[in-house]
Amino acid sequence: MGHRAAGLAAWAASGVLAVALLLLLPVAGAWSADAERGKALFGHCKRCHQVGSGAAHRIGPHLNDVFGRTAGSFADFRYSDAMKDAGSGGLVWSEETLDAFLADPHTFVPHSRMSFDGMEGVEDRADLVAWLRGFSGDHSNPSPAEPTATPEEYGLDPQILAIEGDPEYGAYLAGECTTCHRTDGTDEGIPSITGWPLDDFVIALHAYKGGKRVHPVMQMVTGRLSDEEIAALAAHFYKADGDP
Ligand code: HEC
Ligand code: HEC
Repeated sequence: MGHRAAGLAAWAASGVLAVALLLLLPVAGAWSADAERGKALFGHCKRCHQVGSGAAHRIGPHLNDVFGRTAGSFADFRYSDAMKDAGSGGLVWSEETLDAFLADPHTFVPHSRMSFDGMEGVEDRADLVAWLRGFSGDHSNPSPAEPTATPEEYGLDPQILAIEGDPEYGAYLAGECTTCHRTDGTDEGIPSITGWPLDDFVIALHAYKGGKRVHPVMQMVTGRLSDEEIAALAAHFYKADGDP
C-alpha cells in the first residue's frame, strides 16, 4: 500500500489527481492491493447499504451495479425527491460522481435523505469507490461478501421484527419525535423518517438503542423506548407520509 499511497500523494500535490485516477482505474489489478482497505471503509456505509450476493435495499438502496446507475432510479426503493430529481437531471454514478457525492453528500445532492456527513480523505474515497466497483458490471464477483446490516448483524432478535406495532399508540408517542423530525417527508438537516419500510425503521431505532449506531440524542431517545413502543412508532411513521 505504501507504494500507491506515495504515488497518490504526489499526484494530489501536483494537482492532477483526477486525471491520474481516470487513467489508473481501468487497470483493476493496480487497485486490488487496496480493495481490503476499501472494504473496511465500507463499514461507514453498511449500517444502511448492502453489497454483494443477496444484497437488498435497507435504509439505503443496495449498491451492486451502482456504476452506470442513474441516481435515484430503483422503482422499488423510496428515494427522496432530491435524489430522483438529480437522476432526472442526468446524474449517473461513476468514479467522479461517487467521489464528489461521498466527499460531501449534502452539498452534492442537497436535501437527499442519506444521513452521512461525508468522507474527507481523497485516498479513502478512492479505495472505497474502487472496492465498490468490484460489485459493478464486468468486474462483478459472484459471491464476494455476505449481505451487510442484516438484523442478525445488529444482534436483533427476529421476534422483535415480528412485533406488530399499534399505529395509534405510535401517533401518541410520536409527539416527542416531531419536535425534530418533520412529518412532511422533507429533510431539514434532520433525516426524514416517514414512509420507511417497517423493518428498516425498527432496525435503525434498535441500532441506536443498542449503541450500534452512535448519536447521543437518538441513543437517549431510544433508550427509553420498549420494543412495543418502537414497533408502534414504526407503524405510525410508515403511514404518516407527506403525501395525503
Ligand atoms: C444513515 C444511512 C446511510 C449511510 C451511513 C450511507 N448511506 Fe448512502 N444512502 C442512504 C439513503 C437513505 C440513500 C437514498 C438517498 C435519497 O433518496 O436521497 C442513499 C443513497 C446512496 C447512493 C445513491 C444510490 C442510488 O441508487 O442512486 C449511493 C451511491 C450511496 N448512498 C453510497 C453510500 C456510501 C458509499 C456510503 C458510505 C460511505 C453511504 N452511502 C452511507 C443512506 C445511507
Ligand atoms: C432532539 C432531536 C431529535 C429527536 C427528539 C428525535 N430524533 Fe431521531 N434523529 C435525530 C437526528 C439528528 C438524527 C440523525 C442521527 C444520525 O446521523 O445518526 C436522527 C435519526 C433518526 C433515525 C434514523 C434516520 C436515518 O436516516 O438513518 C430514525 C429512524 C429516528 N431518528 C427516529 C426518531 C423517533 C422515532 C423519535 C421519537 C421517538 C426521534 N427520532 C426523536 C434527531 C432527533
